[in-house]
Amino acid sequence: MCGIVGYLGTKPAYEILTQGLHRLEYRGYDSSGVAIENDGGEMHVYKSQGKVSNLEAAVDGKPHDGTLGIAHTRWATHGIPNDINAHPHVSDDGRIALVHNGTIENYAVLHEALAGHGCKFTSETDTEVLVQLIEYIRLTNDCTLADAVREALGQVIGAFAIAVIERDNPDLLIAARRSSPLVIGIGDGETFIASDATPIVGYTDKVVYLGDDEMALIRRNEPLEVISLNDGSHPGLDIQTLRLSVEQLEKGGYDTFMLKEIFEQPDTLRDCLRGRITADGNRVILSGVLDNKERFLNANRIVIVACGTSWHAALIGKRLIQDMCALPVEVEYASEFRYGSPFITDRDIVIAISQSGETADTLAAIELAKSKGAFVYGICNVVGASIPRATDSGTYIHVGPEIGVASTKAFTGQVTVLTLLALCAGQLRGTISQQQVTAIAGELLRIPDILRQVLKLDDAIREMSRIFTYARNFLYLGRGYNYPTALEGALKLKEISYIHAEGYPAAEMKHGPIALIDKDMPSVIIAPSDSLYDKIVSNVQQVKSRGGHVIAITNTGNEDMRKLADYCLEIPRVMECLTPIVASVPLQLLAYYVAHYKGCDVDQPRNLAKSVTVE
Ligand code: M6R
Repeated sequence: MCGIVGYLGTKPAYEILTQGLHRLEYRGYDSSGVAIENDGGEMHVYKSQGKVSNLEAAVDGKPHDGTLGIAHTRWATHGIPNDINAHPHVSDDGRIALVHNGTIENYAVLHEALAGHGCKFTSETDTEVLVQLIEYIRLTNDCTLADAVREALGQVIGAFAIAVIERDNPDLLIAARRSSPLVIGIGDGETFIASDATPIVGYTDKVVYLGDDEMALIRRNEPLEVISLNDGSHPGLDIQTLRLSVEQLEKGGYDTFMLKEIFEQPDTLRDCLRGRITADGNRVILSGVLDNKERFLNANRIVIVACGTSWHAALIGKRLIQDMCALPVEVEYASEFRYGSPFITDRDIVIAISQSGETADTLAAIELAKSKGAFVYGICNVVGASIPRATDSGTYIHVGPEIGVASTKAFTGQVTVLTLLALCAGQLRGTISQQQVTAIAGELLRIPDILRQVLKLDDAIREMSRIFTYARNFLYLGRGYNYPTALEGALKLKEISYIHAEGYPAAEMKHGPIALIDKDMPSVIIAPSDSLYDKIVSNVQQVKSRGGHVIAITNTGNEDMRKLADYCLEIPRVMECLTPIVASVPLQLLAYYVAHYKGCDVDQPRNLAKSVTVE
């Protein structure tokens, strides 16, 4: 949570920092701030509640020149979102400014000790404790800023990515991290730091991902120095090339990132599939699986850990892997797994799914699984993020940056990769016939074109959605492969429209939720012509006979459903195991347009953040 940016170079820092904040706003957007230092060592700090545009309005007309600066966009953990709690936080003597992403777990103990030394606090945040501690160490030890930062971080328990500057020192920017991500961009005479690579794109393609417990000393006209916080040693610099373009970060003519990302899915799934199915369509090549053949041959069990939408993808993955690999699969919320004393052995494969690759609970689950000897496999979108670096092997979904807070193209990418993984491992284990592999792989390759047809429902869904803005509750029902699709549809609606929505396995309706049904509670029922179609039809009838309205997702030309349901969204028929990918797209559009007509901020819904790097 929270986004940080820093710059030391030759250009005006303010524009670079605020542009970077806009790109990081998906990480949190309840307040933001910037500290700029001019070449004479004078420092100006500005903070503002709300989005980055509020900060820009607040700074307008005030001094903000300088080629060194740090900035922050916040998602509150300690203290309400307001100007005072916004970052940067400044030390008592006004000398040191600091931005922080993460949580300092022992902040209360440190706060008490510092207050005992006469230190005064102005905010309710955990972060302010850290800047005051740095100042205290700096003054009592009469040491350099770098030494004080290192010493202070040694006393901190928790997660942090920080950037620090000090007044009268316009040639030094310090950054450090533990558990929270930090990328350093190395340009020509300029250096950038950021929570992810997006603020750096367009300036340089040379990046270093700062490692855990490392501190970077960025000095004007000097090479980057990275120091281990633990022993002061200098780990080697692994300079990588960034493969992201500015165009990939922009809205491309759509009103919102979310709509753009929904419409990108035919292309993103093509990218996701590229090179992973042989030209003859007979084999699936996932190097993460094939390079670890013995692990997949000897596995006793697969456990999938994830959060939110990625957890829904995991539920679909469970069925795919069980059906194709004849292996038991369990799915756990990463947050429950990490504290649940899970029974894991070295014959287990733990698959961690995460779009961002930074989700704190998923990262902690990975560490726990590794400590128990499991082989950990990551499915991630953001290249170079913490999760792909923490796992033993894995597969990127390659769907490009997902900026909208509500996950759409990442979900279909995750399900696509899970399908490929099940096919590849099933083929390796001899638990799926060649005929099935060829049929499923062939249909997978047709999915991008099928999604193009599904997206033609856009006008119909837009029209229909206007009608449903009145609803305060929605029920989403699905069975088999599409029970998780129902969960995901419900999550999308509640996240962006603030309408309460419940996803249920359709047959469970009669065990309780049926009591809720009336004319004011629409039900979205996923009813493709699959092995459970007849059962789902009776659920539709049960809703209708209680006065409920039904929006059915069914296959093209289903006359019977047209008679039964109030609204039919017709999608092309595909193999049962691939229906979640196809059926989830109209659900994304439905959620989108309902939220749109309710006037909600679709890309940045209230209280949410794209990357949940706190517990
Ligand atoms: O980056 P991750 O996939 O690990 O994120 C997990 C969840 O926080 C995420 O899917 C969240 O539920 C989204 N807002 C869903 O749209």
